Amino acid sequence: MSHLPLTGSRKLASAEEALAKFASDIHPSSTAATVRLDITDATSIQNAHDVVAKTLKERNLPGLDVLVNNAAIAAGTPEAVYATNVIGTARLKDAFLPLIPKGGSILNSSGLGSNTRFCQRPAIMPPTYPYYSSSKAALNSLTVQWALDEEQKGSGIRVILICPGLNAMNLNSYVEAGASPADGCKVIVKEALTKDGKTSIFVHKGGEHLW
Ligand SMILES: NC(=O)c1ccc[n+]([C@@H]2O[C@H](COP(=O)([O-])OP(=O)(O)OC[C@H]3O[C@@H](n4cnc5c(N)ncnc54)[C@H](OP(=O)(O)O)[C@@H]3O)[C@@H](O)[C@H]2O)c1
Repeated sequence: MSHLPLTGSRKLASAEEALAKFASDIHPSSTAATVRLDITDATSIQNAHDVVAKTLKERNLPGLDVLVNNAAIAAGTPEAVYATNVIGTARLKDAFLPLIPKGGSILNSSGLGSNTRFCQRPAIMPPTYPYYSSSKAALNSLTVQWALDEEQKGSGIRVILICPGLNAMNLNSYVEAGASPADGCKVIVKEALTKDGKTSIFVHKGGEHLW
């Protein structure tokens, strides 16, 4: 089956570079495309929405099956971290929701947003990223609110939270203990391809996660 993966990035060159790395993994019948997107900028969100809507129309596609809210930052002021991880993500979701058809999915990403894991002793880790963790806890809460909203509207859109585990990425300065993102993304791909799955769940590769 052909797919049209669209990758957003603040710099188109970065998105193109990322896509080039996966070129050989993309099925020949699918076409990947890039979109300029800064989720802290309302005009950028609107422009990205318009590009995606136009692309779907040109390809005669009924909608955006899966929205992966991946963008996040861990370091910076509380204002900057919340502007990206909470407010930007919420605005992006609001803008793109009308493009998602019945049976579509919204996948949010978290891990350190689990309050339970920080209330346990020993806690999962020291409070190194308090604004990041608390912003992700806010995203966890938005996930259950959005899931309930879609359920009550009968839209058939599932909204879930995924923890890809600890991966060595730019976000955590390529932490030594981190796994390869090629492993971390497996649970995301699995959920992206799941149809009629449960909504309002927090999953990781081993199953359901602690909220
Ligand atoms: N790494 C982990 O261990 C881990 C664990 C659990 C959850 N997560 C989650 O996984 C997601 C991806 O993180 P990562 O680990 O892959 O880190 P990363 O390599 O730093 O990726 C973060 C991405 O966010 C994008 N981004 C940041 N600010 C943006 C903005 N204003 N507008 C648009 N895009 C923006 C960046 O894109 P550009 O710079 O190209 O614009 C970058 O591709 C995050 O939501 C993170 O919370 C990561």
